[in-house]
Amino acid sequence: MDKKNAALELANIKAKLDQWAHEYYVMDNPTVDDAEYDREMQKLLEIENAFPELVTTDSPSQRVGGTVLDSFEKYVHQEKMLSLANAFNFEDLVQFDKQVKKIIGDKNFNYFVEPKIDGLSISLIYKFGNLEIGATRGNGSIGENVTENVKTIKSIPLVIENKNPYFETRGEVYLSKKQFLKINEMKLLNHEEIFANPRNAAAGTLRQLNTKIAAERKLDAWIYYNMDRVNNATHEDSLIELQKLKFKVNPLGKKINGIEAVYDYIQSLTIQRETLDYEIDGIVIKVNEFELYDEIGYNAKTPKWAIAYKFPAEVVSTTLRSIFPTVGRTGRITYNAELDAVQIAGTTVRAATLHNADFIIQKDIRVGGKVKIKKAGDIIPEVIAPIVDGNYETLKKFHEAKKCPECETLLERSAGEVDQYCINTNCPRKIVRSIEHFVSRDAANVDGVSIKLIEKFFENNFVSSISDLYHLEKYKERILELDKIGEKLFSNIIEAIKNSKQEHMAKLIFGLGIRHVGKKTAQIICEHFTTIDDLANATVEELIAIEDVGDVVAVSIVDWFENPNNKKLISDLKNHGVQFKNDSKIKNINKNFENKNFVITGVLSKPRNYFKDLIEHLGGKTIESVSSKTDFVLAGESAGSKLAKAEKLKVKIINEEELNKLMEEEND
Ligand code: IVH
Repeated sequence: MDKKNAALELANIKAKLDQWAHEYYVMDNPTVDDAEYDREMQKLLEIENAFPELVTTDSPSQRVGGTVLDSFEKYVHQEKMLSLANAFNFEDLVQFDKQVKKIIGDKNFNYFVEPKIDGLSISLIYKFGNLEIGATRGNGSIGENVTENVKTIKSIPLVIENKNPYFETRGEVYLSKKQFLKINEMKLLNHEEIFANPRNAAAGTLRQLNTKIAAERKLDAWIYYNMDRVNNATHEDSLIELQKLKFKVNPLGKKINGIEAVYDYIQSLTIQRETLDYEIDGIVIKVNEFELYDEIGYNAKTPKWAIAYKFPAEVVSTTLRSIFPTVGRTGRITYNAELDAVQIAGTTVRAATLHNADFIIQKDIRVGGKVKIKKAGDIIPEVIAPIVDGNYETLKKFHEAKKCPECETLLERSAGEVDQYCINTNCPRKIVRSIEHFVSRDAANVDGVSIKLIEKFFENNFVSSISDLYHLEKYKERILELDKIGEKLFSNIIEAIKNSKQEHMAKLIFGLGIRHVGKKTAQIICEHFTTIDDLANATVEELIAIEDVGDVVAVSIVDWFENPNNKKLISDLKNHGVQFKNDSKIKNINKNFENKNFVITGVLSKPRNYFKDLIEHLGGKTIESVSSKTDFVLAGESAGSKLAKAEKLKVKIINEEELNKLMEEEND
């Protein structure tokens, strides 16, 4: 076969395979048997083998995985990935309906209801009809580029008929119940830890660095969100468009009129739930008419035109085997229940929280007896009450722990507080947990440092405080000897730790784990105190003067900074080069953008302010006119004099695609 014929034959086979895959994976209606599919696939592989230059990114052969990645690149979402407000009962829904009507008055509108898939949201970006990027939600603004794994999802088309320069759609990646059981079976056979539920398994798989493993796990995706609100008038229309483009759209969605009809839908889906081959954790209710969206509006993280009704938490009973306390990063003691394994809300539960000693005593919960367990969605399972039967009196009453389970220091309880605390600043568990908190995404954001790793570092005396993270490099040889830590992983960790020195002061303050100082409070405080020293010297009065900061928070902050250990920690961090940068807005600095001057000109796919915010968010500056100090000119269509000037001054001119590349290249 010559190359021309090979190309023709390939196109022919590809079309067949794509069609069959669509019938099988999307329509659930195969028209050929597996053997025939395999035969054609084999032919395709043979031709591609003979003519490697004919292998294209949209070939079905590209779905099998095989690349092993070091890490995932960050991806900045063009439009924030929103979440949904929750409703837990019908009254909440009526409230939602009232709120919508209050805003739009007596305009006619419909609702669209659909199952709430219990998976992970994904954003798919097609450029000129080709799947370019699959990205996780992350914190809503910045997710991870997991394209390689997304490509292994057979129901997600690699090419679509819509050939626009940019097309984005969103949906939920999930694992079917059947596939989840299969994966766990394999894990058991290999003596590996099993996944708790399909959602965790899907999350683990989507973030699997070995794409071959991801391919084997057989993820799937329901697509429910079409960003094109210009060519579609309603959510229903936009789903039809998605279906035409061969995306897998859930068949249970439907348009209804009036909030009362939602009630019937909930009833019918509650019954159907068990028979579905995928987990759902509720129902999503959306206003159907797009023209009303802007009018109804948005909260910070959720639209006001949609709501998620969550199925009620399931309650089951099992036997309480033992009660064991654990200590958290603040020293607080939590009591936990070891249980006889029990299935609940799609998960096998073996442990649950018992909160604190008072709770156990008040409810008179006793080891050996039966207890009721509740679990809803992501929420940690909890013991809610004992089941008192004939033998209950013979069981031993519970007594609270007197000593820290880790360091045996006598536990303390402040007046009026229910919780007991370990006050030993050197308690190993507290240290490990506080480092875990410090590296977390909302804090110093150090990727790749898991609690297991921190434990290992701690056991080997490489770290005994947060600031020790910044001198890990000197233990390089010994760290490389630890299992599973290779040269590449190590250098990634060091790089991530180095980058964290540039994190925003608010995130670092949150990371320090000062009692009562959450993310939001840290941000508010940083708007008033520009440097870490100013904050360290702040008085209770100054802090209370800030709106939203009460006396408990203020005292807690002042106490924290007065503690000599913490004083040393801050000075160590500063000596290691941690900047505590505070330029009012939280940023995600990207080296390609940091301190670079950008001029934006011409017609772009989004309003200029979008790009201005994005560039500034990544650490760049935007200026009005082009000069020799300009680093980049972001030029859209019909750019005029600024473009000409940039050409004259030989300033680098980039388009949107190149801007995206700049963002993605950062980690190289
Ligand atoms: S719509 C702006 N529809 O639920 C609204 N979300 O709790 C975007 N989810 O982050 C979401 N099924 O990951 C929508 N049919 C569905 C969904 C769904 C599951 C997830 C999604 C979202 C989360 C919110």
